[in-house]
Amino acid sequence: QQEPRALIVIFGATGDLAMRKLYPSIFNLCRNGQIDENVAIIGAARKPWNHMEFRQRVLESISNNLESDESPNAFLSRFYYQQVDVTDEASYKELHHLVIDLEEKYDTDGNRMFYLAMAPEFFGMIAQRIDRFGLKNSDGWTRLVIEKPFGHDLASAQKLNNEVREAFDEDQIYRIDHYLGKEMVQNIEVIRFANGIFGHLWNNQFISNIQITSSESLGVEERFHFYNQSGAARDMVQNHMLQMLALLAMEPPITLDTDEVRSEKIKVFRAMRRIKPDKVDEYFVRGQYDRGEINGKQVVSYQEEHEDLKGSNTETFVAGKIYIDNYRWAGVPFYIRTGKRMAEKAAKIVVEFKNMPMNLYYDEKDKQQPNLLVINVQPEEGVTLHLNAKSNKPGTQAEPIKLSYLYNHKSGMRSPEAYEKLLLDCMLGDATNFTHWDEVALSWAFIDSVIEGWKRKKPNFPNYKAGTMGPDAAHELLEKDGFHWWPIKDI
Ligand code: BG6
Repeated sequence: QQEPRALIVIFGATGDLAMRKLYPSIFNLCRNGQIDENVAIIGAARKPWNHMEFRQRVLESISNNLESDESPNAFLSRFYYQQVDVTDEASYKELHHLVIDLEEKYDTDGNRMFYLAMAPEFFGMIAQRIDRFGLKNSDGWTRLVIEKPFGHDLASAQKLNNEVREAFDEDQIYRIDHYLGKEMVQNIEVIRFANGIFGHLWNNQFISNIQITSSESLGVEERFHFYNQSGAARDMVQNHMLQMLALLAMEPPITLDTDEVRSEKIKVFRAMRRIKPDKVDEYFVRGQYDRGEINGKQVVSYQEEHEDLKGSNTETFVAGKIYIDNYRWAGVPFYIRTGKRMAEKAAKIVVEFKNMPMNLYYDEKDKQQPNLLVINVQPEEGVTLHLNAKSNKPGTQAEPIKLSYLYNHKSGMRSPEAYEKLLLDCMLGDATNFTHWDEVALSWAFIDSVIEGWKRKKPNFPNYKAGTMGPDAAHELLEKDGFHWWPIKDI
C-alpha cells in the first residue's frame, strides 16, 4: 500500500473527539508504519496553547496505548498548534503560514486534509473560509472531513450541504459515519458477496427477517444538551443504523469502487418504504429511560440526569420495522433498535432464515430453531452460524448448535479502530466508507417523516426501565409479525 503524504489540520483540536479518537488513531497508524515522515498534524482551536502544551495533551490522550518502553517523542514532534478564531480572517492567514512552512518541512506534496471535529454550526463557515483565504491547494489534493451530525433534518442538512458545496466538490467531501469504519460492518459485504451459501440465499425466499441492534448501557452523560435536541432517531438511526441496513440490503456492486458501492447503497435508501406520519406507530416505537439498575448500580431516569431534562419528550430509544420495497426484499422486515441505558453495550446483526417446510425432528413444544447468521460488531467481533444437528440426548433427535468465529481471539491481533481506517482511507483518497450526500438526504427524508408522526402525539415517557431492552412495545412490534428479538448476549 502506498504511504500517504499529507498535512492534517484538525479544527476542534482540543475537543473530546480529537482527544478520545483522533490522536490515538493517528498514533496507531504511526506505530504500524502506515503513516510515516510525510504526515504532520496541525491542531487548530480557540485555546491559547503553544506547540508544547498541545503535544502534552496529545501525549495524555495516547498514554493508555503507550507501552512502558516506548518513546512517544518522534510521534509528538509532528504535532503543531495554531490558535484560531474560526470567525476571524487573521486566524486563517496565520494558519496558512504554518501550513506552508510545514508542507515544505514534511514534503507533503501539497496535500491537505481539513478535519472539522467541532460543532456543526461552524462547518459551512469554515469550509468557505478555507476556500476564500486560499487554504485549498491546487498543487496537491484538498479534502474536507466532516463529523456528524450532518444537519438536524433534511432542510438543515440541505442548507449545510449547500454551504459546504460552495467551497468543495462532492468528491472532496468526506462525511464520517464511524460505523462504516468498524471491522465487522465492513465485513458485511465480504460475508455476503464472497460466500455462495449466503449470497445465494440472501433474499425474501429464504430470509424471514433481519434484526440490527446497537444498544448502550451508558446514559446521556455531559452531552445531554445536544442529545436532548437530537434524540436516538437522529443520533443513531439516521446514520449508523441505516448505513448498516444499506450494506445488508444492497445489490452486489459491479466492482468495489466507491461510486459503484455508493450507487447500490443509494438504491436501498430509495427503496426504503417511507412511513406516513399517521402510521408511525405501526412501524416505530420510541422510548425514554426511567430509573433502573445497570451492573448492580441504581441509576436515575433520563429526566433526572439534569434539571433541563425535566419533562423532556426526547426519545432515548427507538425500535423500528423497515421494509425495502424492491424485488429482493419485498415482504421481509428489517428490524432496528438502539438506545441508551439498555442492558448491555453491544452491536449485533441477526439474519434469520426461514425454517424447513416440514419438521421431521422436533415436536410441537420443542420447535425447530431457525438458522441464524449472527454478525457480532461489538464488543466481540465475530460471526456465528446457528444450525440444527443430531442430538445424543435421550428423547431428542436434533438440537441447535453454533459455529463461531471470533476475530481478535484467533489472530491475537487487535482490529484497527474505526477512526484509524477512516483517516487512512481519506489520506489515500478512498471515499467508499464515507457517506455520499444522496445517502444523507434520503435517510433524513425517511427519519423526518417518522419524527413528524411522533410530533403529533405526546409520548408517555418514561416508558422503559434503565438496564432493560426497551419498552414492551418494542417486543410487541415483532410479536405481531410472529417473530421475537434474538438476545444480544451469548448468541
Ligand atoms: C455516536 C452517537 O454517533 O455513536 C453516540 O452520537 C453514541 O450517542 C455513539 O454513543 C455509539 O458509537 P459506538 O461506536 O460506541 O457504538
